[in-house]
Amino acid sequence: MRKKLAIANWKMNKSRAETREFCQQLRQVAPDLTGVEVVICPPFTSLDVVAQELGDTEMRWGAQNCFWERQGAYTGEISPLMLRDLGCSYVILGHSERRQILGETDAVINRKLIAAIEAGLIPVLCVGESLQERENHRAREVVKEQLDQDLRNLVAPAGGLVIAYEPIWAIGTGVNASSDDAQEMISFIRERLAQYLGREFAAGTPILYGGSVNSNNIAEIMAEEDIDGALIGGASLQADSFAAIARLIANA
Ligand code: 13P
Repeated sequence: MRKKLAIANWKMNKSRAETREFCQQLRQVAPDLTGVEVVICPPFTSLDVVAQELGDTEMRWGAQNCFWERQGAYTGEISPLMLRDLGCSYVILGHSERRQILGETDAVINRKLIAAIEAGLIPVLCVGESLQERENHRAREVVKEQLDQDLRNLVAPAGGLVIAYEPIWAIGTGVNASSDDAQEMISFIRERLAQYLGREFAAGTPILYGGSVNSNNIAEIMAEEDIDGALIGGASLQADSFAAIARLIANA
């Protein structure tokens, strides 16, 4: 059976004090969460706070980005080894905000992915189409192209890989993809993954949905066969709403 995941992507939100408060609340409202791996991805500046507050629980943490080199003259960058040093298990790569706002290309994402795996991190690779691409019936083609390039030269990582399907038009809009549409794309992603990395690896790889997930829509999304959890933005910023979503994922 595949692992189920509830991953909080806080984006550029929360001070260290707010992070501490969130973690303490999360421990109170969700002391008993089993059947789902809970992962918090705060800004870099709060990773050590999450490690301190949640280090003795089953919960994990990760970063929202990393560089592709291990060390050296790369002003402002953070290496995957530094993330391991902070106890990170995961790193989100290829988020559409980084692709669109920071101009990250698939070639860059591919380098980061390989470096993250080498450092012992589990990448959470984000893919997804824009509204225009969906309206022009190009969604599959766009996601296929992202996967082709992002996963180039990748050998099935022993530590695993997570993929998140996040249609751009569903991010932060309050309009989630229908469970049918999400299932259709996620089963397509699993099919592609089988071609790149083998059927067995694809069958064991968690593939998540992201985009306006909340406690009212997650149960229907999780009822789909291929969807193994969620990457959650806005609704992950409050401990109670995030815990409610994680619980619904666990119970699906
Ligand atoms: P929202 O849940 O706020 O739509 O954000 C989704 C997202 O981008 C998670 O990575």
